[in-house]
Amino acid sequence: MKVNILAAMLAALGAVASMPAGAQSQANAAAAAEHVVAVRAGKLVDVVAGKVLADQVILISGQRITAVGPAANVLVPAGAERIDLSHATVLPGLIDAHVHLTGDPKLHGYQSLGVSDIRAAMYGVHAAKLTLDAGFTTVRNVGAGGFGDIALRDAINDGEITGPRMRVAGYAIGIRGGHCDNNLLPADYHYTENGVADGPWQARAKVREMAKYGADTIKICASGGVLSKGDEAGAQQLTLEEMRAIVEEAHKLGRKVAAHAHGASSIRDAILAGVDSVEHGSLIDDEGIRLAREKGTYVVMDIYNDDYILQEGAKAGMLPESLEKEKMVGRVQRENFQKAFRAGVKMAFGTDAGVYPHGDNARQFYYMVKYGMTPMQAIQAATINGADLLGWKDRIGSVSPGKYADLIAVGGDPLQDPAELTRVTFVMKGGAVVKPAPQK
Ligand code: ARG
Repeated sequence: MKVNILAAMLAALGAVASMPAGAQSQANAAAAAEHVVAVRAGKLVDVVAGKVLADQVILISGQRITAVGPAANVLVPAGAERIDLSHATVLPGLIDAHVHLTGDPKLHGYQSLGVSDIRAAMYGVHAAKLTLDAGFTTVRNVGAGGFGDIALRDAINDGEITGPRMRVAGYAIGIRGGHCDNNLLPADYHYTENGVADGPWQARAKVREMAKYGADTIKICASGGVLSKGDEAGAQQLTLEEMRAIVEEAHKLGRKVAAHAHGASSIRDAILAGVDSVEHGSLIDDEGIRLAREKGTYVVMDIYNDDYILQEGAKAGMLPESLEKEKMVGRVQRENFQKAFRAGVKMAFGTDAGVYPHGDNARQFYYMVKYGMTPMQAIQAATINGADLLGWKDRIGSVSPGKYADLIAVGGDPLQDPAELTRVTFVMKGGAVVKPAPQK
């Protein structure tokens, strides 16, 4: 019965003219039907071993990597398509664990009020392409209005638009009047953001609602923020009790939880509640660092963001109070990044793209190295660690057999100069070339 179904499927695909009898030869025929590609890499960054390998061949069948090894040892099947990156350095596709694809960096504060959720989703189509072309083959979108991120993920997966693999949260969940509410309008307008929840049971219900409409990740706002009106970045918002309810509900439903948390007490309580990652982490103290290390909680610090906010924020409509708040947290966050990393806290790469322009994500590598990581460690944060945080270690994050063929290349040496990663020359996602290598 099974064999008949396979035969029917292959026939439907037009893969074979006449079906051989044995199941074994049918399996061979199925493999032959898949497009085989051999990528020759002058250098290959092995993020698992933390070293750079010379002159490698990566064999790809369909969407997945089937073999990786020295060019002299890998047998390239006759008829395979060959991609020559022998003058480049190849890396696994990068992962940004904190983006807002539906966010337009030119429209902050009151300038954002005229944008409908549908218009924002249309902008997200544009941002998805920019992000993928910049070498980010996977992103975790931590908060979007109108479930726009879920629509983007599904349209990308259905092949209608071009973009990275996505983890998505729907609306971020937080308290009334908090960072994840929208506090720009006066009471006359009766506006409350859809992610608002007060009390453990409302918070649980919001988790259920996000899951119902397709969220595979839950985003919460544990503290105030920089870009929200009328709150303090360092002040706690969700209570420990609320966060415990959220995490229990989310984990029960198989979703990880990402907690926006700048202030020390919000970071502590988020970790105690069992969140999977702390986002921003700006004012993390010794206790937060100790707890994150003990519990294995990832910390995702957006340490490029400060540059754009202070230089371009006012023009983009950010409120004067936001710029003041940024001056309080920006520098401290970078110092705490170094402190937390040195203390052994697990870190994944996340940038908050959407606050600043999509496609500039890799600008953050410079700061990660300036504030204490080696270039290899920064690359690992954006590959293998990101994959682990997203729960996708089985499919992305390294160039290994069995994983998706998500590959990028740069001309120079990113281990000497991490800014090379801002000049990605080649992008492949799931075996399909999205940005071809320049002709020599
Ligand atoms: N979305 C964040 C907030 O509004 C941005 C924080 C940016 N600042 C920083 N130093 N990372 O709180």
